Amino acid sequence: MTITKEYELIGMQKASQAVAYALKEMRNYAKPGISTKKLDDFGGQILSDLGAKSAPYVTYGFPGFTCISVNNEFCHGIPSHQKILQEGDLINIDVSAELNGFWSDNGGSFVIGQDINQHQKLIEASKQILHKAIYNIKGGVRIADIGFVMETEAKKRGYKVIKNLTGHGVGRSLHEEPHEIANYKDRFNLTRFKKNSVVAIETFIATTSTYAETLQDGWTMVGNKGGYMAQHEHTIVVTDHEPIILTEMNGIWN
Ligand code: CO
Ligand code: CO
Repeated sequence: MTITKEYELIGMQKASQAVAYALKEMRNYAKPGISTKKLDDFGGQILSDLGAKSAPYVTYGFPGFTCISVNNEFCHGIPSHQKILQEGDLINIDVSAELNGFWSDNGGSFVIGQDINQHQKLIEASKQILHKAIYNIKGGVRIADIGFVMETEAKKRGYKVIKNLTGHGVGRSLHEEPHEIANYKDRFNLTRFKKNSVVAIETFIATTSTYAETLQDGWTMVGNKGGYMAQHEHTIVVTDHEPIILTEMNGIWN
């Protein structure tokens, strides 16, 4: 969406605070021994207490309130009683929701407990790349140029980017124009970021894979060449200067 009135900015701020708070609290709650279903119910309750509705549940009939992906799962992992978090797991939580007609999206990858499997380097790379990408965005910048920054920064650190997962416009629904904010320089994409538009910027930084594939369950995505992936996502408003980071309080950069 493009923000033209003050109530729209306020609406987006409120929806963004709800998803950011839910993500932050879920991250604090995630510990060895708890199931991803229990973690999802905890997050779903926070959204509901704030009057927000889970976006994947409402939009796609996703079997959960949030997407929780563990280890080799890249994204859209289904919360399950059978999936018990363990020390050193790489986990990604993605929380998106609607509040009073406004939609916001955020996510982050982190390690459960001690980093006994050495995932932190990948996580730090993803966080830094999101930061660099966001602070290069302003009105008039080509989407492909931000993709170039993300891919270049990933390569510098010895990582790859996933080509078929992208950031997107957001605001009046979960996915809007521009539909594809890729993590690489898509030379066919001549679109530019527009001032006052709301977009969800997300990284997809991987150890070995370059594409994500859907499993038999119809939701969970894994890498075409296996390995691990880290994702960090903020919903922002594009300006003439530094973007307004609507989901900043999720603390994914801390
Ligand atoms: Co998103
Ligand atoms: Co998301």
